[in-house]
Amino acid sequence: TVAIQISPSILSADFAHLADEAAAVADSADWLHVDVMDNHFVPNLTLGLPIVEALHKAATLPLDCHLMIEDPDRWAPAYAEAGAGSVTIHAEAARAPVRTLRSIRSQGARAGLALNPATPIEPYAELLPELDMLLLMTVEPGFGGQKFLDVVLPKIRRTRELIRDREAAVWLQVDGGVSEETIERCAEAGADVFVAGSAVYGAQDPAGAVEALRARAER
Ligand code: DX5
Ligand code: ZN
Repeated sequence: TVAIQISPSILSADFAHLADEAAAVADSADWLHVDVMDNHFVPNLTLGLPIVEALHKAATLPLDCHLMIEDPDRWAPAYAEAGAGSVTIHAEAARAPVRTLRSIRSQGARAGLALNPATPIEPYAELLPELDMLLLMTVEPGFGGQKFLDVVLPKIRRTRELIRDREAAVWLQVDGGVSEETIERCAEAGADVFVAGSAVYGAQDPAGAVEALRARAER
């Protein structure tokens, strides 16, 4: 059995009160998901290193940094150095993923690889030993509040089988459109770490929303 973890995305939080927004889920969540976007890899711009450094000081939860940026090979190690507990780079953007994943680990952070909905898992199967987490996007990256893409479910299943067959110690994260309505499908397909932005920060009670998601995923 796999332990369920919930990683609320501050993309849907109030950027003027990030410390308070982080504190709101500190006792219910496992991670704080931080979406870094550069307006090149994705058509949106969010935040970068200075805010990650500040959040690391202000928040008690470990930071789960999701880099939706060009040239992650150059930038990823700095996020680990800034205090991120986990740094995830996109396969579509990395030119030297193995080197970059190793340098994230050597900075003491967990190393993650993210795949867009149309990117297959198979070419990356041999990289499992280099990874602590695989992130399967269940929307096209760039924005919160999008509709969950059911077409990704078979890939979640195949990835869980790969991880199981190879006995890899790799977490399987899903990100995008995860809600009380869609989380059970993801859990059933084999995901164990769930990012949720609008489903948590769009709720009146973010901590309650985290608990509700966890209860559904654990069923
Ligand atoms: C989208 C980001 C997600 C986003 C998810 O590109 O990677 O982390 O915050 O937001 P929801 O849960 O609202 O789809
Ligand atoms: Zn994300």
